[in-house]
Amino acid sequence: MSIDSLTALIRTIPNFPKPGIQFRDVTTLLADGPGFGELVERLVAVARPLDPDLIVGIEARGFILGAALAAALGKGFVPVRKAGKLPGKTVGIDYVLEYGSDRLELHEGQVPAGARVVLVDDLIATGGTALAAAQLLREQGASVLMALFAVDLPDLGGKALLEEDGVATQALIA
Ligand code: PRP
Ligand code: ADE
Repeated sequence: MSIDSLTALIRTIPNFPKPGIQFRDVTTLLADGPGFGELVERLVAVARPLDPDLIVGIEARGFILGAALAAALGKGFVPVRKAGKLPGKTVGIDYVLEYGSDRLELHEGQVPAGARVVLVDDLIATGGTALAAAQLLREQGASVLMALFAVDLPDLGGKALLEEDGVATQALIA
């Protein structure tokens, strides 16, 4: 399946969650069996050569893609969650995004110092979320081999922001 066919499976919903936001909704791609399979295969093809120790996914849709990728690679999956969701002791970081601000948390000790990590989310917009997650991972002593996304919104500059900070960044669909 071509990238154009994958792209066609993503719908755009205007004015969600706030007026002026063109929301790229990947649930239509996830709901398509061949499309989801192709998306995961393409993520695997990028991540496998990096030989990561762990896959870290960002809430919420980064869990879906990150977990599928981790299982395909036979690696562990660690969730980065919005504040107050993880039951154990956490480490966290505050961040700003396209339509608000939030805090990301990780279970303390789940990303060991020295871990080689691929960070996954469905989409990069301003890059604020992924940059915060990458900083949080670095604070644990991990190295972020790549931040990997299904979709980039290049006009919002997120990929450039991450790369300025030294985080190799790749998106399948731009
Ligand atoms: C979306 C998306 C990324 C983030 C990207 O999540 O899944 O996590 O926004 O935006 P940024 O590059 O500007 O930081 P959303 O905020 O919709 O949260 P959700 O996945 O929990 O619904
Ligand atoms: N996260 C931030 N901006 C977004 C957008 N336009 N579509 C989907 N997720 C987003």
